[in-house]
Amino acid sequence: MAISFRHEGTKTQKRKMILEIKNITKSFDGLKAVNDFSCSIEAGKIIGLIGPNGAGKTTLFNIISGFLSKDSGEIIFRGKNISDIPAYKIVSLGLSRTFQDLRLINQMPVIENVMMNFQFQPGESLINIYFKNRSSTLVERENRKRASALLKFAGIGEKADDLASNLSYGQQKLLSIVCCLAANPQILLLDEPVSGVQPVMIEKIFNMLNELKKEGKTIVIIEHDIDFISRISDKIIVMDEGKKIAEGLPEEIKSNREILEAYLS
Ligand SMILES: Nc1ncnc2c1ncn2[C@@H]1O[C@H](COP(=O)(O)OP(=O)(O)OP(=O)(O)O)[C@@H](O)[C@H]1O
Ligand SMILES: [Mg+2]
Repeated sequence: MAISFRHEGTKTQKRKMILEIKNITKSFDGLKAVNDFSCSIEAGKIIGLIGPNGAGKTTLFNIISGFLSKDSGEIIFRGKNISDIPAYKIVSLGLSRTFQDLRLINQMPVIENVMMNFQFQPGESLINIYFKNRSSTLVERENRKRASALLKFAGIGEKADDLASNLSYGQQKLLSIVCCLAANPQILLLDEPVSGVQPVMIEKIFNMLNELKKEGKTIVIIEHDIDFISRISDKIIVMDEGKKIAEGLPEEIKSNREILEAYLS
């Protein structure tokens, strides 16, 4: 039974939930990586998802974003059941995610990494290749402008034409968030956005995520850095062995010995 704190009562029902995860289970060769996991994510909030290595956090993101099929359960996004919808369609509905291993195209310029994630692009259809028309050029120009603005917003505007491989690790983490933003999502799922990143860059990422929250985005962050996650989150969900073991305000989670022992063991 998950530990939940008193304020998580009936009031929760009245708040606007953008994402509802209902009884998700996923096994790999008999191992329950996600085990009857449920939670609701309130619109416009930053939610931290913590738990020890192998707890099932990334597997849960993979299922929500359509990269992995589940064994059972349901995912409701803005009132629509997205359980069996392919990943590319889920992005177009407004849910986008980053990957723990970044998945940038290292030998491609930074700006083109961003442009690849736009929802509308002229593409390389035969018509465009042979009759590259005015409208496709205009769309490309517009996309380049938007990508450039997003990179500036992230503070790496001057790196637009560098290869992604030339960025520092922290800048690559920022770029992966920009790529996620390029799809213009309402909710972002970020898998360890600050792990392995220097303190100065952690602050930049912290500020950028708070800016996004002010703009009304909802953000779910997986992170092992308990201080970062406590500082940035409105609420924290703790996962262990595929299950939700606790849910509460950052100060409640940080001061609960039972939770910290489970988390740190
Ligand atoms: N594709 C897969 N095939 C088999 N087992 C998998 C697969 N993906 C994950 N697992 C297993 O599922 C469990 C949960 O893994 P997951 O990557 O979701 O954990 P995590 O909480 O993200 O951990 P970390 O904090 O180390 O990133 C682990 O035991 C892992 O080995
Ligand atoms: Mg993980």
